[in-house]
Amino acid sequence: MISAWMLTVSAQSPLLSVYNRETFSLNGKWNYIVDQYETGFYAYHGTRYDELENPGNGAIFLDKKPQNKSELIEYDFDLSPTLMVPGDWNTQDPKLFLYEGSIWYRRVFDYAKKNPGNRVFIHFGAVNYEADVYLNGKKLGRHTGGFTPFSFEVTALLKEKGNSLVVKANDTRKHDAVPTENFDWMNYGGITRDVQLVELPSTFIADYSVQLVKGSLSMIKGFVRLNGSGKQQKITVELPETKLKQQINTDENGYAEFALEAKKLTLWSPENPKLYDVIISCETDRITDRIGFRSIEVSGSEILLNKKPVFLRGICAHEENPLRGARAYSKEDARMLLTWARELNCNFMRLAHYPHNEYMARLADEMGILLWEEIPVYWTIDFTNETTYKNAENQLTELIGRDKNRASVIIWSVANETPVHESRTAFLTKLAQKARSLDDTRLVSAALEVSTPSDNPFLKRVHDPFAGVADIVSFNVYVGWYDGLPDKCDRILWDIPYEKPVIISEFGGGALQGLHGDTLTRWTEEFQEYLYRKNLAMLTRIPQLRGTNPWILCDFRSPKRLLPQVQDGWNRKGLIGQNGSRKKAFYVLREFYDKMSRGENIPNR
Ligand code: GCU
Repeated sequence: MISAWMLTVSAQSPLLSVYNRETFSLNGKWNYIVDQYETGFYAYHGTRYDELENPGNGAIFLDKKPQNKSELIEYDFDLSPTLMVPGDWNTQDPKLFLYEGSIWYRRVFDYAKKNPGNRVFIHFGAVNYEADVYLNGKKLGRHTGGFTPFSFEVTALLKEKGNSLVVKANDTRKHDAVPTENFDWMNYGGITRDVQLVELPSTFIADYSVQLVKGSLSMIKGFVRLNGSGKQQKITVELPETKLKQQINTDENGYAEFALEAKKLTLWSPENPKLYDVIISCETDRITDRIGFRSIEVSGSEILLNKKPVFLRGICAHEENPLRGARAYSKEDARMLLTWARELNCNFMRLAHYPHNEYMARLADEMGILLWEEIPVYWTIDFTNETTYKNAENQLTELIGRDKNRASVIIWSVANETPVHESRTAFLTKLAQKARSLDDTRLVSAALEVSTPSDNPFLKRVHDPFAGVADIVSFNVYVGWYDGLPDKCDRILWDIPYEKPVIISEFGGGALQGLHGDTLTRWTEEFQEYLYRKNLAMLTRIPQLRGTNPWILCDFRSPKRLLPQVQDGWNRKGLIGQNGSRKKAFYVLREFYDKMSRGENIPNR
């Protein structure tokens, strides 16, 4: 018998387009309890409380108070400190900087429904890495994956006063997780993005896609999916500015597809990031989104944006605000990072190595910056583990579900620097097939590695079976940093046997901002500047080169980077230091991109 409090009120429903809805924010101060020994989750013999018939009031997540002066309860959220949500816990309290494990968060809130017939959901932008969520003592469910949104319906549980929302966030790194236990960035734990309540009609528009048909500059296709009892409704899809309007009927599953011929669309591009109001309505709901229409394809070694060849003047970025030295999460953080990329004259960004917060793609739509989005299938993933694959596939599905209407997003990346072997290539190929089945309008790639034959240290090869699967051949290369010194670039030869576009998904080297010396003194800005000049000249010798993404826009925290007085826990490959100051190499790249934007330097053009 399942006792009442064990009931998972509803499976997590991927509530989408939350940022197009009116929401009630649960951001702010949450009480927290550090639970290093999982005392609130496992009884002393190791049984999970949420699998016990009657866990008793001793378990933390029931958020109980002693009913009498004799009762034993060894925690109290009200007497516990607070953390700000959203935000990583590491940088909010020095005691938590390197903490890895579970922290229980608790937020009490009142909520009066606007309409008694409406439904209410709790939506999390992300929790790193695993979240167990409870409302008013009842378990809603668990989400695994630190960088994608999830939600739970709470209609039946919500009270007008004194709702107790409890989240156990655990960021312990694990070999069978995605990412695995070894990665070159800070393992920021916690409720790292917005938490919102969303009140919706009893039958609401749960999902929709409105995009140009692949290869067309005028045919728009899409679907609408309703959630609720009134599944069969008349749906109206309209683009008021184009006077296009179409009515369709959803089937017994609440699903309908449509196609619209839009003769005079102004196509979205970095030069003109045109967004249209798209209104989707039915008898019980109405939602407005702002969507750009553009086409992205490959043809031979060209990337075609709206049927014209484009060169991707990119830069890599982690989801971190270096000025705070913390996880980025806000629209202001997104605007700062995108504006810095714009200052470099970028038309492209690689959001490494995991899905960034939703503000990035929404703002990139407005600012006209194309995006590479990626799931954290990074380095030595447990490629033979089916659970690990399902986790990776779920993160990819949640990312595509969230951003499939964002014109700025043009590439889904399924991996970074994964070792070439049969199980890995099968794992990545399945992910690529999944991405294409979910979205046939965008390109699929992954950051591969180059190999160097033992008899010729100057020959760089891309011989990777996944290059045959990807639409774009992308790889990371560090000549001058991990591989020789910068002048080695002059002697490099390339062997990239694919008639496909090539994007350099990473190159670069480190410098401590403000440290100066000659071009052979590592860690000086002059060394990094010289390395950039040599690398850019080397890369433009690749005939299929159609994009560059230096690693990386800003210095970022990494526990792997330990050189005192230079790294001190920061990866120093940024073109911008942790204090926001530009390094000399910043201007080398900007000058290169200025020329690129005038059509100079582009190979074979
Ligand atoms: C690798 C990896 C990055 C890492 C970088 C570096 O290519 O993809 O995540 O930070 O190199 O060594 O700085």
